[in-house]
Amino acid sequence: MSLTSDPNWWRQAVVYQIYPRSFADANGDGLGDLAGVTSRADYLADLGIDAVWLSPFYPSELADGGYDVADYRNVDPRLGTLADFDEMTSALHERGIRVIVDIVPNHTSRHHEWFRAALAAGPGSPERERYIFRDGRGPNGSEPPTDWRAMFGGSQWERVEDGQWYLHTFAPEQPDLNWANPEVREDFLRTLRFWADRGVDGYRVDVAHSLTKDLSEPLPSWEELEAMPWDGTHPIWDRDEVQEVYAEWRKVFNEYDPPRVAVAEAWVESERVPRYANEGSLGQAFNFDLLRANFDAGAFRRIIDHNLTLATRSGSSSTWVLSNHDVIRHATRYGLPDAVSDDRGGYIVNPGAEWVKSRGSEPQLDRERGLRRARAASLLLLALPGCAYLYEGEELGLHEVCEIDADERQDPTFFRSEGVDYGRDGCRVPLPWKSEGVSLGFGEAPAHLPQPEWFADFSVEREEAEEDSTLTLYRRALSARRAWQGAEELRWIETGCDDVLAFARPGGWVSVTNFSAVDVPVSELGEEVARALGRAHLASREMRPDVVAAETTVWCAPGEDS
Ligand code: NOJ
Repeated sequence: MSLTSDPNWWRQAVVYQIYPRSFADANGDGLGDLAGVTSRADYLADLGIDAVWLSPFYPSELADGGYDVADYRNVDPRLGTLADFDEMTSALHERGIRVIVDIVPNHTSRHHEWFRAALAAGPGSPERERYIFRDGRGPNGSEPPTDWRAMFGGSQWERVEDGQWYLHTFAPEQPDLNWANPEVREDFLRTLRFWADRGVDGYRVDVAHSLTKDLSEPLPSWEELEAMPWDGTHPIWDRDEVQEVYAEWRKVFNEYDPPRVAVAEAWVESERVPRYANEGSLGQAFNFDLLRANFDAGAFRRIIDHNLTLATRSGSSSTWVLSNHDVIRHATRYGLPDAVSDDRGGYIVNPGAEWVKSRGSEPQLDRERGLRRARAASLLLLALPGCAYLYEGEELGLHEVCEIDADERQDPTFFRSEGVDYGRDGCRVPLPWKSEGVSLGFGEAPAHLPQPEWFADFSVEREEAEEDSTLTLYRRALSARRAWQGAEELRWIETGCDDVLAFARPGGWVSVTNFSAVDVPVSELGEEVARALGRAHLASREMRPDVVAAETTVWCAPGEDS
């Protein structure tokens, strides 16, 4: 299957996120690589996705899993070469799969040539102007310019040898760029073109709501900063003028045919999401609301309605996400009591944190229930109008790995908080392709993060052979979705039952989800749902003619009466 020339291909696409170091290891060094992705191109095609989004694969010291980029226009030698990238892109394109790369514009790695030059050139130099350097306070400037806290813990300022301090929103290895500097803006346009010229179809934009900052003196205290509204005027986050950057990017996207697409990772007030999603800006933005929600019919319905309204406002399609490389896998979140899986706030949302911190020793995780609910939620998500973002391994029903020793962990959030934060390694453990072998078919060497024994039960090999596996469910769902997909609309069907959500898509495809822990008789769900269930085609759990089973989604094929 080749790529279509449809400029709207992204609107209702299924995008599969690959965390390259943990997907497949072709050269046997324990780290996943681009050749590994190429070697699994048929698997991706069989899954039935429209695009892959690759988390960073650029040269990096891996201080933040690759989100510390030392060279934006190259491949980490441990992950391959530019030739490997081209080969991977061709293999995916030949199978009708688009390629989206991650752009990390808020900060570079401290090993980026610009940062090295900034250190060498000294205070007041144009090289320092590409970053945010300030003199310190107190005697000899030995105190940081402000008391601001970094996202990953500790001060937001790091001192360099000559006494100046630089700003880092995340880890000290990730110095923030100065987006007031035209040179920075120009260089990112080059990066966008570099990858577009190599055939890349789009970009995922990391912390898209940061970049431009107002650091005019006097700088506010942390307390003052925290109290400031995120209304476009906050000194750091979601400033109105960041849109000027994306207006420039948009011109670059539109130089290509079809135009390149982008999706913003912007954790902003939901009313402000459309600014990033409109067609003059990045064109699409993640909606992370489901990452913070319990498995609850009311919550799902509110989130769906709200995001469809926002999409109408921006003119973009809505996006839906249940898992990614920053949060606890949804099979696990849904297996924890609701009180545990509440949103604990913060930038990286990790409901279930307490459970992971206890290394899974607390008995409250119900694995089976978590997976049952995850399958129901995934099937519901895939029936929604808009673009679905899947995270590698969710199609296997993988749970979070909590049993990782401190000396095997990699995530800076763990180390910088001295273990108070549990880190994000548990969702980044390399995939099990086979049920046996040194790294369960991931590669020829032990995987860079340890795979627990139970991973073998979720291997691709095993699930391919099973009729009712999660992999089989995803494959069937993606194939039906492709066949039935219509306009980006949804009509709720009132079921008369608070725990059961049902909606119809244009063309008559109906999705019914029972969120409750008990089976609900079909006869209680009203005539329209009962009629649709007569055309039941696919379910996240066994299908029964008289009931919608507990914690189950059923898809009903388009039919005569729809
Ligand atoms: C968001 C990414 O998803 C996360 O993994 C990373 O740590 C931060 N941005 C900083 O780049």
